[in-house]
Amino acid sequence: MAVRTASFLLFGLFVTFHTWGAWADMEVNMEDRVEVYKGDTAQITCMFTSSEGIGNTIIQWFYVTETGERQKIYYQDSMSQIVDRATRFTDRISVNGTGATGEVVLTIRDVQLADGREFICLIKNLTDDSKGSTQLKVFGTPDLPTIEGVQTGISVNEVSPSKIGTCEVKNGFPRPNITWYRNNTPLQSVPDEVEIVPSVTSESSGLFSVKSELNLKVVKEDKNDEFYCEVSYFVPGGTRMTETHRINISVFYPPTAVNVWVESPKGNIKEGDSIELHCEDNGNPPSSIISIKRFEENNSDGQSLDGEVLVLNNVTRRDSGVYQCTSIDSDTFQSISGNVSVFVHFLDAAVVIPQDTIVVAMGEEFKATCNALSSLKTQAEWLKDGEVVFKGHTLTVKDATFDKAGMYECVVTVPEIEEMKTSGSIFVNVKGPPEILKPDNTEIESYDTTVDLSCMVRGFPAPKIIWSTSDGQDLEMASEMMTEDGLQSRVSIQVTSDITASCNASNDHGTDALTFNIKTPVNTTPPPVTTTTTIPTTTTTTTTTTATTTGTATATTISSATVKAETAIPPKKIRKEGSGVIIAVIIICILLLAILGSVLYFLYKKGKICGRSGKQDLTKDKSNKDNIVVEMKSDNTEEAVLLGVNGEKQSPNEQ
Ligand SMILES: *[C@@H]1O[C@H](CO)[C@@H](O)[C@H](O)[C@H]1NC(C)=O
Ligand SMILES: *[C@@H]1O[C@H](CO)[C@@H](O)[C@H](O)[C@H]1NC(C)=O
Ligand SMILES: *[C@@H]1O[C@H](CO)[C@@H](O)[C@H](O)[C@H]1NC(C)=O
Ligand SMILES: *[C@@H]1O[C@H](CO)[C@@H](O)[C@H](O)[C@H]1NC(C)=O
Ligand SMILES: *[C@@H]1O[C@H](CO)[C@@H](O)[C@H](O)[C@H]1NC(C)=O
Ligand SMILES: *[C@@H]1O[C@H](CO)[C@@H](O)[C@H](O)[C@H]1NC(C)=O
Ligand SMILES: *[C@@H]1O[C@H](CO)[C@@H](O)[C@H](O)[C@H]1NC(C)=O
Ligand SMILES: *[C@@H]1O[C@H](CO)[C@@H](O)[C@H](O)[C@H]1NC(C)=O
Repeated sequence: MAVRTASFLLFGLFVTFHTWGAWADMEVNMEDRVEVYKGDTAQITCMFTSSEGIGNTIIQWFYVTETGERQKIYYQDSMSQIVDRATRFTDRISVNGTGATGEVVLTIRDVQLADGREFICLIKNLTDDSKGSTQLKVFGTPDLPTIEGVQTGISVNEVSPSKIGTCEVKNGFPRPNITWYRNNTPLQSVPDEVEIVPSVTSESSGLFSVKSELNLKVVKEDKNDEFYCEVSYFVPGGTRMTETHRINISVFYPPTAVNVWVESPKGNIKEGDSIELHCEDNGNPPSSIISIKRFEENNSDGQSLDGEVLVLNNVTRRDSGVYQCTSIDSDTFQSISGNVSVFVHFLDAAVVIPQDTIVVAMGEEFKATCNALSSLKTQAEWLKDGEVVFKGHTLTVKDATFDKAGMYECVVTVPEIEEMKTSGSIFVNVKGPPEILKPDNTEIESYDTTVDLSCMVRGFPAPKIIWSTSDGQDLEMASEMMTEDGLQSRVSIQVTSDITASCNASNDHGTDALTFNIKTPVNTTPPPVTTTTTIPTTTTTTTTTTATTTGTATATTISSATVKAETAIPPKKIRKEGSGVIIAVIIICILLLAILGSVLYFLYKKGKICGRSGKQDLTKDKSNKDNIVVEMKSDNTEEAVLLGVNGEKQSPNEQ
């Protein structure tokens, strides 16, 4: 209050003093206007001078009513001071000062809006009078303004301006003004584009409430616009402004482009992947009528799915192509599309040339190429026995040896896509004369009646192996099997005296032979046999299973050489017991012996296959379904009996 009073007093200093004088000698000076807030106290000063001196003056105060009449509210002379009764100011005014001082002040308490009138001060003496007037201005500060934006989206397709929002300011006096702003620029009415609709309410209190509605023809760019209102109102001595907060509008506009992309997988796509295509247009709101489909020249249906996601499972190269997404505006039914190219990478099965098997002469060079059809660059690697022997598509091996024979695997990979891999293989046979692996010992002392000999031979074509004794007798071969190292031939011979036995391997390219010398020490008690030797059968194949293979790689990875049919040596002199009953009994025996054999297998450590001195081994390899080696040792006195799974009973050295 004090501040306000000070401000209007200060203001008053700048107002030119207006002089009303009836005669040149008497003057009354008053301010043009006095400004005050409603409820405050107003003071109106009346100053007068007289050339004759001041005395005997009559002072009267009037206000001008709404109808323009003068209404006296106060009278004062040297004798009395009278406030007029029954006026609107009766209880609220007072005047101090006298004619003697040349200045009187009318004080109005609790100023009301209706008090904002013209006040007249009239000075009289017996012969003269003079008067002055002041306009009282009353102000009411309005409440803080409010703004309310429309919550629904506004379409750019609307033909006439759409409502953006409403601003309101209440209880101001005099009437406040509302100005709309868009992004700090005041808006003015523009026909068919900007409509500002104001409305004023006069409250019962005499204060004004003002509303303003903004209607706009929105464009897409308005989506980021900020709108607000500024309210300006008068205060004593000037104007003030307040602003509302800012509002956004949501603008609905049709899309101009459609974006379709492969959401997953990121990066290269390969056959078998599941791919997910996503689509979105840039309209607001995004269209709900959206579909993705394979783009076909002739627009046949193809894969299609309504919705912004298309999932293709287990794709193949045939799924490569352009995928198109179409969005239809629900208002205008105009459609726009976008497309994306999808490429499904592939890697076909590896092709090795030459196919399957290759036969090379000893010392010669051989080549094999390996590749797989792919959409990307491939790399190849050749492996032998699990180790990389060459990197590149064409394998070249110079100077073929038996060591270089065997299975070569080629692995084709795609460097750009790690998971893509395929492989092929080729089997290499190296032609050459037989080569018998020299055992540790060919001098054997035998304490037993039979002795087992074995011979490991490499060579291709598979050599024919013949066993013979020094006296020119051919020996019956016990078994022949393929191992990783070559062809293994075994024989059991009956020892009665010192004897020499030879293993003679031959094929088209040559011959190799190995001689064993077996001695029977006289007057020596044969030591009890405590060790039996078994051959692990997991890495071997008997001739009976490979006898019919003719140089092609078998499915068994363990075979490292091939055997021609003519080299197969079937077991001979098999005595058959024709009775079914006996066979049944024998089968039971086999099962029992199988258990016994297994136990023995694990109990005794492995011995040398052939040329073991000081021990007489009786072995018989069986490649039966259970891979069980059955062995039986008849302790000197009894004949060794070998039993196969097929129920055959063999006396190996029966001659
Ligand atoms: C009234 O005032 C005027 C002007 O100052 C003066 O000439 C006149 O003498 C005054 N009359 C009386 C009775 O004082
Ligand atoms: C009027 O009276 C008030 C107190 O009622 C006083 O403060 C003020 O100074 C007076 N004014 C004049 C012009 O005498
Ligand atoms: C209005 O929208 C713009 C752009 O989207 C945004 O940056 C701004 O924060 C919004 N303002 C309000 C008051 O919501
Ligand atoms: C309100 O607008 C009117 C008309 O434009 C103007 O005369 C008046 O001075 C304005 N009032 C304020 C407080 O700005
Ligand atoms: C599309 O149709 C034309 C003519 O009808 C035909 O020649 C062409 O092969 C078709 N293309 C495809 C991809 O089906
Ligand atoms: C993927 O497709 C291929 C060929 O079309 C098919 O052999 C294979 O079983 C499929 N895999 C799955 C998981 O559906
Ligand atoms: C795919 O879109 C590109 C540009 O976005 C355009 O050049 C091309 O012609 C479109 N292809 C098809 C098949 O629609
Ligand atoms: C091995 O057998 C071949 C033919 O069968 C024969 O020519 C050769 O002399 C034999 N060698 C030995 C050492 O017995």
